[in-house]
Amino acid sequence: MKIGKLKGTLDYFGDSIKRFQTVCNASRKICEAFGYKEVITPVIESIDVFVRSAGENSDIVGKEMYTFNDRGNRMIALKPESTASVMRMVVENKIYANPGVKKYYYLSPNFRYERPQAGRYRQFYQFGVETLCEESPYLDAEVILVAYRILEELKINNAKVYLNTLGSDETRKNYTKALKAYFEPYVSELCDDCKRRFEKNPLRMLDCKVDAQTEIMKNAPKISDYLSEEDDTYFKELCKTLDALNVPYAINSRLVRGLDYYTNDIFEIIYEKENSPYNGLALIAGGRYNNLGQEFDGPQIPSIGFGMGVERMIGVLEENGYDDNSNKKTKVAVITMSNACKVEGIRLADYLRKNNLEVFIDYKNNNLKPQFKLCDRENVEF
Ligand code: HAM
Repeated sequence: MKIGKLKGTLDYFGDSIKRFQTVCNASRKICEAFGYKEVITPVIESIDVFVRSAGENSDIVGKEMYTFNDRGNRMIALKPESTASVMRMVVENKIYANPGVKKYYYLSPNFRYERPQAGRYRQFYQFGVETLCEESPYLDAEVILVAYRILEELKINNAKVYLNTLGSDETRKNYTKALKAYFEPYVSELCDDCKRRFEKNPLRMLDCKVDAQTEIMKNAPKISDYLSEEDDTYFKELCKTLDALNVPYAINSRLVRGLDYYTNDIFEIIYEKENSPYNGLALIAGGRYNNLGQEFDGPQIPSIGFGMGVERMIGVLEENGYDDNSNKKTKVAVITMSNACKVEGIRLADYLRKNNLEVFIDYKNNNLKPQFKLCDRENVEF
């Protein structure tokens, strides 16, 4: 039997690995200009890391997580996302105890058992940022600006920022109560997911794809009517800062996210191009999560971040015909015409590489003709 790759996974080679590097290099460059430092967390974690953070009733934990018992009978998960891992790392190493804001970025494979389609894979890479230990609308605006600048660096114009706030704990409590009261008489008419969410987390009912266009959903109470004065002022200050930074956005008071840890501001940057297979998909998504530290038995650690789907970015770059020449080196060949010259040729090639050239050298032939042919195939310039 022929062995192929698993459904929903990708091999990277040729142009696709170049685009992968383009996306990651551009993102790194922007993040580092904003003072972010790279972190790497394990691909395997205890299942509790995600059950406690994303929430038992989220699709990610409830339906999509890859889990297994290891030989020591520990329940392990292949990480479906990285925010929880970064928070686990910050609490476990007491990094929060050091003064000042912590700014981290990461590139990590994530695993979700989803139905594979364009821009949706079972193993995919996320480039993400997490900003911990500070709460300020100006910082939130900066995080959205980082995402926006990455898209700008990669010349992606057809993406729009959608913004909402879930408010503080008190606001969400009041709003959840209002949603429950509103949906109570209609629950039996809604889909199974909505019925389940009504019991466990009514806020997530607003994210339903099945019932989204029904009058019941359209007339549901809006969070904007339940914001405390403090929440309202915070959100307005964020919007004002984005205006001053010329970051275009639209407020979508129906926006909720698929992970339970969010509090306050949330956002998604959606690709909008008709007839594109990526139309309507989130390229980047994130928000504030002020209570996640406590889920790991740490203190309250006010934080905000986002995750960017690298495969989706690559797909969009391909569609736009984006060409990255920023790291391209001049390619030269060293041609040798006898075995006696080969060693001298290798020494010369080494010298040229040290001087920032990409060097091709053929070890097999001594005649000019086959070497020139190979040079053509390798796109050698000199
Ligand atoms: P998320 O919305 O689940 O958030 O994922 C973030 C991004 O990962 C999405 O916008 C999308 O670009 C990409 N993505 C998600 N699932 C797939 C998939 N199956 N195939 C390809 N790409 C996908 C999070 O994961 C949060 N941790 C983001 C965050 C960071 N919030 C705060 N900090």
